[in-house]
Amino acid sequence: MLTVDEAIRSRRATRKYTDQVPSDEVVDRVAELALEAPSAFNAQMRDLVVVRDHDVKQALFDASGQRQFLDAPVVFVAVGRSEVEQDDDEEILGAERAKNLRAGRAKRSEAVRREHGLRDAMLVAGFLLVAAQAEGLATSPTTGWDEEKVKEAIGLGGRADRSIALVVAAGYPDETPAHPGRAASRRVNDRY
Ligand SMILES: Cc1cc2nc3c(=O)[nH]c(=O)nc-3n(C[C@H](O)[C@H](O)[C@H](O)COP(=O)(O)O)c2cc1C
Repeated sequence: MLTVDEAIRSRRATRKYTDQVPSDEVVDRVAELALEAPSAFNAQMRDLVVVRDHDVKQALFDASGQRQFLDAPVVFVAVGRSEVEQDDDEEILGAERAKNLRAGRAKRSEAVRREHGLRDAMLVAGFLLVAAQAEGLATSPTTGWDEEKVKEAIGLGGRADRSIALVVAAGYPDETPAHPGRAASRRVNDRY
């Protein structure tokens, strides 16, 4: 198991995987840690779909032309939620907070609610990349796909209250990509 520092530094977008299939325990730990990511109001306006089924992976490939979805033993899809009334918000937040949150959401446009769901979902995806790396799994984060087709692939066809944040192929690495470099100018102290 890698430390957080080691996992972050050693992670590379990796698109080729060995035939070794990660155990259910490994996949479960990665999914569980990803879903530990914080969310606005703890409302958890996101889901994580764990794809191991060949037909679903085939449909993700068809939605993207990205070969790694077919080759990877597991693909994770971070989904944003943007409905006004969550079916489980009272359970998560209690009746009073859930009511307030629904009232707040009802005042917002669909576009803003979509953005909020995507923010929660992207944080899950970010945690997932690090958690997977710590478990020895390499990942390929992607946004190069047709969103509607990805939604169809995972059973969300036609759902306007769901959005796709990141599709992440994962498996044991069969390539060692070099660090592509980072700009030295992306840290800003206090203000621009
Ligand atoms: C939001 C996002 C979208 C990306 N989309 C794709 C993609 O569609 N296909 C792909 O092969 N890689 C994709 N990548 C991987 C990036 O190309 C890669 O992360 C970047 O070159 C930096 O390399 P590193 O991850 O090894 O540090 C994406 C990465 C991010 C964060």
